[in-house]
Amino acid sequence: MEHLQKTAIAGIGFHVPDRIVKNSDLEQWMDTSDEWIIERSGIKERRWIANEGGASSLAIQAAKNAMEDAKVTPDEIDLVICATITSDYFFPGISAQVQEALGLGLVGAFDIKAACSAFVYALSVGDQFIKSGQSKNILVIGAEVQSTALDISTRGRNVSVLFGDGAGAAILKRSLDDSEILSTHLHSEGRFLKELWLEAPASKYKSRITKKMLDEGRQYPIMNGREVFRNAVRRFPQVIHEAMDANHLTIDDITQIIPHQANLRISQSVAKRMGVSMDKVFSNIHKYGNTTAASIPIALTEARNEGKFKRGDHIILAAFGAGFRWASAAIKW
Ligand SMILES: CC(C)(COP(=O)(O)OP(=O)(O)OC[C@H]1O[C@@H](n2cnc3c(N)ncnc32)[C@H](O)[C@@H]1OP(=O)(O)O)[C@@H](O)C(=O)NCCC(=O)NCCS
Repeated sequence: MEHLQKTAIAGIGFHVPDRIVKNSDLEQWMDTSDEWIIERSGIKERRWIANEGGASSLAIQAAKNAMEDAKVTPDEIDLVICATITSDYFFPGISAQVQEALGLGLVGAFDIKAACSAFVYALSVGDQFIKSGQSKNILVIGAEVQSTALDISTRGRNVSVLFGDGAGAAILKRSLDDSEILSTHLHSEGRFLKELWLEAPASKYKSRITKKMLDEGRQYPIMNGREVFRNAVRRFPQVIHEAMDANHLTIDDITQIIPHQANLRISQSVAKRMGVSMDKVFSNIHKYGNTTAASIPIALTEARNEGKFKRGDHIILAAFGAGFRWASAAIKW
């Protein structure tokens, strides 16, 4: 095999809607409380889009911010990868909308549907395209609008209080120095499909969705919170260790772990199992809730902007979510 290129993350950025929905705002729609939500999840508020917009509208703005950060122009981008489970429409995915709106060339554009792990999956795919020499400047985006799919009645409260809208993006380039995506690690275990899923509309059913299904609430995300929690606290440390072991790094070599923002209690449990304090495990879930595929690039950008890591530091991205799927990336920034 020819000598492979190395991939660097040349720029990052994010965008969230202006509308802030506080825990106390949720009390008007469902039987819940600020105390319950903070105690169980660490979430104080989240962003929900005000009216229409869709995930593409957030993705486009996040992409602009990342392109500015990386100092790349639209004509330099040669591939678009969007991680989302909430595309504006059932098909064809948002990546082509992003390509059009940003005035990119007629470049390749595709979506990845891997829920909360999707940004790390997308990063891994983009890394392979750079390493092989097929692409030079890749736009990778995680974008979600969950709010328009939530059951905000008491029936759906265990799910709807957790999720928020947002988008984050990264520009991948061939590395010309020491900075590098060192490795990525992807996993799935499909037997847990129904522990966190949104069933319909579904190609499995002839009419995809019926009045009866709507009445039963099968168009809303359903979650077995305890099963998700039990698996997440096991898989996060495993996949973080996998990333460290693959690069002969110890936890002392890692400046910051950027986990998917699922739940503060999950992150605290991960920190404990890794034997580190929460100073090493980035958290911004109090502001945004769980933004699915967007949470890691949003957290990565805020952590960088807050000086939690700097050039030359080792960081680890780690994700867990529906599928179940989990993933990590070791990065020399
Ligand atoms: C969802 C989660 C916070 C629920 O916490 P829990 O301690 O497991 O709570 P339970 O689901 O057992 O519910 C406890 C009680 O609170 C109630 N409850 C659920 N949601 C509530 C809400 N938003 N407000 C108030 N009460 C609520 C339940 O109905 C239940 O009441 P009951 O005892 O009268 O039946 C927790 O399971 C969790 O964090 N799971 C992981 C979720 C996650 O991270 N998902 C995304 C992964 S990518």
